[in-house]
Amino acid sequence: MENYEIQKADGKLGVLIVGLNGAVSTTFLAGIFAIRKGFSIPIGSLTQMGTIRMGKRSDNNFPLIKDFVPLTSIDDLVFGGWDIRDETCYESATYAKVLNEKDLNNISEELNAIKPMKGVFDQYYVKRLTGDYIKEGKNKYELMTKLREDIKSFRQINSLERVVVIWAGSTEVFIAQKEVHNKYESFLNGMKNNDPDISPSMLYAYAAVAEGVPFINGSPNLSVDVPAIVEFATDNSVPVAGKDFKTGQTLIKTVIAPMLKMRLLGLNGWFSNNILGNRDGEVLDDPESFKTKEESKLSVLDTILQPELYKELYSEYYHKVRINYYPPRGDNKEGWDNIDIFGWLGYPMELKINFLCRDSILAAPIMLDLILFADLAKRSNMKGIQEWMSVFFKSPMHSENIVPEHDLFIQMMKLKNTLRRLMNKAPITHLDSNGVKHNIEEYENYD
Ligand SMILES: NC(=O)c1ccc[n+]([C@@H]2O[C@H](COP(=O)([O-])OP(=O)(O)OC[C@H]3O[C@@H](n4cnc5c(N)ncnc54)[C@H](O)[C@@H]3O)[C@@H](O)[C@H]2O)c1
Repeated sequence: MENYEIQKADGKLGVLIVGLNGAVSTTFLAGIFAIRKGFSIPIGSLTQMGTIRMGKRSDNNFPLIKDFVPLTSIDDLVFGGWDIRDETCYESATYAKVLNEKDLNNISEELNAIKPMKGVFDQYYVKRLTGDYIKEGKNKYELMTKLREDIKSFRQINSLERVVVIWAGSTEVFIAQKEVHNKYESFLNGMKNNDPDISPSMLYAYAAVAEGVPFINGSPNLSVDVPAIVEFATDNSVPVAGKDFKTGQTLIKTVIAPMLKMRLLGLNGWFSNNILGNRDGEVLDDPESFKTKEESKLSVLDTILQPELYKELYSEYYHKVRINYYPPRGDNKEGWDNIDIFGWLGYPMELKINFLCRDSILAAPIMLDLILFADLAKRSNMKGIQEWMSVFFKSPMHSENIVPEHDLFIQMMKLKNTLRRLMNKAPITHLDSNGVKHNIEEYENYD
C-alpha cells in the first residue's frame, strides 16, 4: 500500500469566493465569524462535527474527523472574492435577509470589512442579473489573466500559504459540451477568440487551476467540468470538484431512491416542485438558467435506479422538477415531492415529502467542508476530479468512462474510506466476520 504524505496545514488558507455577496456566501461568512466569536457552533459541518470509525465496532473508537485528518483551522481562513456589485458583505447579507438583525449585528464589523473584487461577468450568461462592478478586457483570455492577477495579489497581500477558489455565484445559461471545451489548445484559442461557449465561470476555473489553486463549483454550471480544464488541473496537480451543492430536495431524493431500489419497489412517477423567493430563485426563473439546474436535478434518479437493469420497476416512470420564483418566501424554500410507487402484485402507494427548508442555511456548512477538504486534497498531492467529495454535490463530476455515484450513503462511505486511506489506515468494508466463516485474518479488523 502506498503511503500518503500530507503537507501540514500550517499558516493561513485564503478562500476566494466567486459570488462573494450572494445569499449562500454571506450566510457562510456570517456563520464562520459567529463561530469564531463563540456565538454558535458549526451545525451541519462534517469536518467540524462529524466522526469517523476506526477499527472494529467493538473497539469503540470514533475520533472527530478534524482530529483524524490534518485540516486547516477555521481561525486560519482569510476571505476575499469577486462579485458584480460594489457592496460590503454586511450590506449584501442585510439584503439577503437570511439571518436576523441581531445575528448580523454581532458580526457586522467582520462582514463590513469584506468587499469583493470586480467580477468577470456578461449578462448573456445570466439574463436576470445586472451589475456595473465588472472587469474590462479585450478578450476572455485577458479577463482570465486579470483573475489570475487577483489571486496572486490576494495571496501576497495576506501572506497566505495556500488558496482555494469556490464558485457560489449565479447559475449560468445552459451550455452543452462542445469541441472548444475538449482540448487544452482549443480552449486557449477559444478564450482568445471570445468563443460564446466559454462562460465566465469557466474563466474563473481556468484562472484558479493556472495559479495551482483548487477550484470547487457549487453551481450546476459546466465551469470546471470540461475535459480541457480537468486535463489542465491533472497536469498541474490541482484538485477540482463539483457540481451544484446537494442541500435540499436532491439530498432527500438520493436517500429515498436507493431505499426504493433496495426494497425492489417500483416507481410510476416523481414530481418535485419548489417555491423560492431569493435572487437565486429570480435567476432560475429564466428558462435558460433553469435548464442548467434542471439537468443537474434530473440526473440522479436514472443513475440510482438503473432502469436498464430493473426494467419492470423503473423503465417508465415520469420525473418532473419545477422551480417557481415566489418572492414572499425569500430564502426559505419549500419543496414538495410526490412519489407514486408500486409494490407486491403491482398495488400502488404514495409518498409525500414537504421540506420547509432554508437554502443558504443548508449550503453554508457544505461550503466550509468543501473548502477544507479541497485544501486537504491539495496538501495530499491529489489532483484532477475529486470524486470522493461527491456527497456534497447534486451532479458529481466523474471521469468520462464511469457513471457518477449518487447514493448518499455510498458517497459517504467513499469519503470516509478516502480519509482512512489518506491516513494510511485500512478501509472499513462492513464485512461481518461472525456471519461469514473465512480465514482471511485482515477481514476480522473490519467487522
Ligand atoms: N441551497 C442552496 O442555496 C444552493 C444549492 C445548490 C446550489 N446553489 C447555487 O449556489 C449559487 C449561489 O446561490 P445564492 O442563493 O447565494 O444566489 P445569489 O443570487 O444570492 O448569489 C449569487 C451571487 O453571484 C454573483 N455573481 C453572478 N455572476 C457572477 C460572476 N460572473 N462573477 C462574480 N459574481 C457573480 C451575484 O451578483 C450574486 O451576488 C447559485 O448558483 C445556486 O444555484 C445553491
